[in-house]
Amino acid sequence: MEIVICKTKKEASRKAADMIAKLVKENPKCVLGLATGSTPVEMYDCLAKDVKAKKISFKNVKSWNLDEYYGLAPTHDQSYRYFMNENFFDKIDIKKSNTHVLNGLAKDWRKECAAYEAQIKKAGGIDLQVLGIGSDGHIAFNEPGSSLASRTRIVYLTPQTIKDNARFFKKASDVPVSALSMGVGTICEAKKVVLLAFGKNKADAVKGMVEGGMSQFCTASALQAHNDAWVFCDEEAASKLKLKKFYAWRSEIEMKG
Ligand code: F6R
Repeated sequence: MEIVICKTKKEASRKAADMIAKLVKENPKCVLGLATGSTPVEMYDCLAKDVKAKKISFKNVKSWNLDEYYGLAPTHDQSYRYFMNENFFDKIDIKKSNTHVLNGLAKDWRKECAAYEAQIKKAGGIDLQVLGIGSDGHIAFNEPGSSLASRTRIVYLTPQTIKDNARFFKKASDVPVSALSMGVGTICEAKKVVLLAFGKNKADAVKGMVEGGMSQFCTASALQAHNDAWVFCDEEAASKLKLKKFYAWRSEIEMKG
């Protein structure tokens, strides 16, 4: 796992966007795994600027999102489909038919999740997966206790995640208690992973992910076994890392390579 520690969120977002832009240039038909939440928004803005400046095009890119609240329609303003349209897809030249988000209204969630996995496989797998991290160390909605081998399925949100996500809803009781989510095993199959983490609220999670043991109680720690995982964070999110100077030095060398 490479840890790129930047002075600001702005700098980290730009660097992560550059990694994605490079892939899109090299492979215009690449398959992206995408995340929602407040963390990647600035990075999506950087990519939208690149599209506007005609540096890159998403015309032939396909995407699959990590998760969706179970019970929310795609038109609900807190659904992840709505979020992606507003914060990214409507700002770039991607074909909407090439973008995929789990259907939060699927009656048969098993069928929905199995079909989602099959679609990803048929597309040749995910070339690059974008991730945020929850304050409890979750990736996608793989809460503490999720198997590190888990696949796309229904999951239940912890009180901590409901509390964290309540800021987007009128009240905490409006936050759905379940979601459909890619599994940790699904995520780890991506060829490359780019995880973003900002602010001191993420410092414990980043510490657990990078320097804790690999455990289902911090599902992001599964990335320790991935051979091309990149963490782009600001100094606050990196503040609890024991070896932060070493990681910063090493990632500079790796970034050049
Ligand atoms: C979003 C997702 C979540 C978020 C995480 C952090 O698709 O899968 O794991 O990445 O909860 O959320 P923010 O970025 O809002 O702090």
